[in-house]
Amino acid sequence: MYQLTAVSRVYKTAAGPVPAVDGVDLTIEDGEWIAIRGRTGHGKSTLLNLLGGLDRPTAGQIRLDGHDLGKLPDAQLSRVRATAIGFIFQTFNLIPTLSAHENVESALVPLGGSPAGRRRTVAAALDSVGLADRAGHLPSQLSGGQQQRVAIARALVKEPKVLLADEPTGNLDEETRDEIIALMEKLWRERGLTLILVSHDGAVTRRAQRVAVMSRGRLTLKP
Ligand SMILES: Nc1ncnc2c1ncn2[C@@H]1O[C@H](COP(=O)(O)OP(=O)(O)OP(=O)(O)O)[C@@H](O)[C@H]1O
Ligand SMILES: [Mg+2]
Repeated sequence: MYQLTAVSRVYKTAAGPVPAVDGVDLTIEDGEWIAIRGRTGHGKSTLLNLLGGLDRPTAGQIRLDGHDLGKLPDAQLSRVRATAIGFIFQTFNLIPTLSAHENVESALVPLGGSPAGRRRTVAAALDSVGLADRAGHLPSQLSGGQQQRVAIARALVKEPKVLLADEPTGNLDEETRDEIIALMEKLWRERGLTLILVSHDGAVTRRAQRVAVMSRGRLTLKP
């Protein structure tokens, strides 16, 4: 469970401070699917990065299962990211020189284990996103929707409890968008994930159980 209390993130810039996230209070239960909407530049990605431990708040607390992410030492925060949190992004962020299999495997390498065990786990993850037959392909040999499937397999192969998605369908056509959201919904349901999804697209956000809107760094829950 996430518990956010008065979370703020102010960026320091040459032009002065930018309050990107401003006093957010929010509780997210385990297994919940919450969508975050809002106009460009209103703090959605900043909030997602804070939830994922990629960044630390300048004020307030972010607790994940009781751990205060803002105060965890770097090594422990990396460990939480490597085990408990999967990320997917609008631009897929696959490593261009690695095959689909190797991209997925990259999430398991920091966790140790035997190469043979990893191979089986990666094969199962690619199968779960419908790409068993594309394991040897490079990202440049895959469509956008297929690349996002690889990214989903990479995010979920370590069996995290949380999946954070920042505009995951922003670069896809409508039909592919619907396929990817249907896949994410299936995986969310099967695995009991906590899914936090940022999107501009009402067709995507209305599939969630709860919708919140970010405006000028502030978060409002929709009834
Ligand atoms: N590293 C940074 N340094 C300084 N300012 C930043 C930084 N990252 C984001 N900002 C600013 O913080 C505010 C929120 O940005 P953020 O990326 O969180 O918005 P967003 O809602 O995700 O926008 P979009 O819908 O375009 O992705 C914006 O004013 C942005 O310019
Ligand atoms: Mg953003």
